[in-house]
Amino acid sequence: MSEEMTRRSFLKRIFGGLIGAGAAASGGYFYARNIEPHMLDITQHEIRHIRIPSSFDGVKIIQFSDTHLGFQYDLNELSELVGRINKLNPDIIFFTGDLMDKPNEYQNIDGAVKELSRLQAPLGRFSIYGNHDHGGYGSDIYRDMMERSGFTLLMNNGEPITLLDGSKIWVIGVDDAMLGTPDIQEAKAMVPDNSYTILLAHAPDIADAASGFDVQLQLSGHSHGGQIQLPFIGPLVKPPYAEKYYEGFYTLGTESPLTAYVNRGLGTTRLPFRFLSRPELTVFTLRSEEQ
Ligand SMILES: [Fe+2]
Repeated sequence: MSEEMTRRSFLKRIFGGLIGAGAAASGGYFYARNIEPHMLDITQHEIRHIRIPSSFDGVKIIQFSDTHLGFQYDLNELSELVGRINKLNPDIIFFTGDLMDKPNEYQNIDGAVKELSRLQAPLGRFSIYGNHDHGGYGSDIYRDMMERSGFTLLMNNGEPITLLDGSKIWVIGVDDAMLGTPDIQEAKAMVPDNSYTILLAHAPDIADAASGFDVQLQLSGHSHGGQIQLPFIGPLVKPPYAEKYYEGFYTLGTESPLTAYVNRGLGTTRLPFRFLSRPELTVFTLRSEEQ
């Protein structure tokens, strides 16, 4: 092979490599900007516990979180989501905070209320505050929207969910850890001893405190799963209060363990990207181990 040919094939290889890397980078950008943020992942889990009354066996809970309406997630997506949730026939629906990205700038409040009002769950729909629901003077706007939509907004209080045979589980909710004043003790004050208790807390890292309060299940959001994860490295950004617990299940404590679950949320914030952290809708089926 002549020297000229070698040089030429060398240059060709370099250019080929550069074009390939460029395509991968712009393809990656396109994927993270336009594809993955809309690839809903419906995850299904069973929750077993000796304190779940036998008549609650098979009760279906759906958790959705962190829509951040007005940033990348729009009303059409919310509408589609509501349809999907209703098709799954949940008995209970939980929304774990961050409805709008900037409540005081959001333009379509009535539209969002109309969509949220369509959600159906015979045993109740409950919600809590996220940091974005308080941010930008949003506290009253969010409260008003959730109430108009038929959700019970829990803020350091709780309510029983009662079946026809009188058996109960409890759902308690705390205020946001970043911009509110969460109080697990106050939230749990009404709950009778030995009740199966589900805590809704936007910020997952509150689990460390919750594990001291005889709570069996904590459902959180806030982390977005980091939004952008890299293989072998994990999430690039973990927000405050989601630094320790950012995705999926965690078990805390040994004697009466707390199961914490962190949902990756539906929308995005700060950067309109998701990579290896698909938007999530979570379905939990309760299983009784009562003897
Ligand atoms: Fe949040």
